[in-house]
Amino acid sequence: MPVVRLAHETDFDGWRAAARDLRAQGVPPSQAIWTVDGAADLFASPTSAGGVAVCEGSASATPAAAPPAFTVPKPFVDLARQVIQHRSDERFDLLYRLLWRLKDEPDLLHILSDPEVARANGYAREVSRAAHKMKAFVRFRLVHDEEGEAYVAWFEPAHRVTESTAPFFVKRFANMRFSILTPDVCVHWDLKQLAATPGADPADAPREDALEDYWKTYYASIFNPARLKVAAMQKEMPKRYWRNLPEAALIPELIAQAESRTSDMVRSAPTEPSRRVVKAAVRASRDAPYDGQAPVTLDEIAAGVDHCRRCDLWKDATQGVPGEGPGRARLLFVGEQPGDQEDLAGHPFVGPAGQMFDRALAAAGVPRTETYVTNAVKHFKHELTGKRRLHKTPNPGEVTACRWWLDAERRIVRPRVVVCLGATAVLSVFGKAMPIGKARQQALQLPDQAQGVVTYHPSFLLRVPDAKAKQEAFDAFVEDLKFAWALAA
Ligand code: URA
Repeated sequence: MPVVRLAHETDFDGWRAAARDLRAQGVPPSQAIWTVDGAADLFASPTSAGGVAVCEGSASATPAAAPPAFTVPKPFVDLARQVIQHRSDERFDLLYRLLWRLKDEPDLLHILSDPEVARANGYAREVSRAAHKMKAFVRFRLVHDEEGEAYVAWFEPAHRVTESTAPFFVKRFANMRFSILTPDVCVHWDLKQLAATPGADPADAPREDALEDYWKTYYASIFNPARLKVAAMQKEMPKRYWRNLPEAALIPELIAQAESRTSDMVRSAPTEPSRRVVKAAVRASRDAPYDGQAPVTLDEIAAGVDHCRRCDLWKDATQGVPGEGPGRARLLFVGEQPGDQEDLAGHPFVGPAGQMFDRALAAAGVPRTETYVTNAVKHFKHELTGKRRLHKTPNPGEVTACRWWLDAERRIVRPRVVVCLGATAVLSVFGKAMPIGKARQQALQLPDQAQGVVTYHPSFLLRVPDAKAKQEAFDAFVEDLKFAWALAA
């Protein structure tokens, strides 16, 4: 019986080479044994892409000289790259079984009810989730070495996603020397190249430093007591990650204070699009491609936006941020795009603009939990200035591409009233620009029978410098929310 010894746990190239050979030699899945050779030196080269498969036994002793051509579909290769990162022991075998069947069943991957396809898809989803959790929950600590400042994080990913996720951190922290240590593998960015070394022990990572306070302040600022749902919070931030999160120490206290705490955090916030951008967006929206199968549930939307590639914004964002609220709501709010804090938290309007929004909703007597809150664009567009991620207004193509998701949300939620918060939302919902000051307090007919209402973006209120003018803008915003709520009744 052939035994395939892969060089390491995520040795995709080794698996692929061996699977190709075995398939060419007609070795059925039941006769192949897949193992990982722990002694192999994965880390010899910083750029090593994977190990070499060594096959033992009759079938692999002499690889076929000219294996018959058999090309697997690209979606299978993509799926296999994901599944290999799963911790399940059966992953190599499962993938080989799928590969074996693909030759006679070329549409196999479309049969989602097939138990093996379903299992592989499930593994891929879990791997993808683990990668997102890693992007959101890695916390760096400042250290000093002979070359100066560096940042080190200890993290225990649910699956072996460290190497595939490392480029995300390089992009985000390109000008900071860092290491991410995990039990599986460690990755190191020295400002020029990414290197990998064997897994580490938690004792190798520094535990306390000044950054702890930063994270605690940050987390306390995005914690929204008005919408505290302990179960949902634990789902988003599973307990297994708490150990390494400085802010986790705050969770019990924040939960205890949730009833009484109010927040008035004010910080710089997104700007509204310029007239030039608005004009270009209108032009771009005329021939928008609306391809693909539209989602029919909010869960599908939540999963979908995270994987959306309709534009390039996903590349720099932590995650797609879908709308939130009941499946049927009378009122649907549309903002511009997630900000820095929404991008990390995965929820709309939880940062400074969200807190302003919550205060205005409370003043207007509108229960946020009975409304659906979403954004025109689902990924955070920003540019890196030093270590800060500064908001950038989404461009016309991005607004247009993302309208596909907003339209799907509107079809599912079927609100009576759609409230546009600011110019980007107006553009997305109405397909044209409108002067917000003049369009306020009117019920504007939309093609799907809903009424549209236009008002300011909460971040506009944050930017008004003068206290009196700020209060007036806030009052006007509250009036608009009351107007919309009454219209939706
Ligand atoms: N600004 C928005 O438009 N949406 C958010 O979710 C947060 C800030």
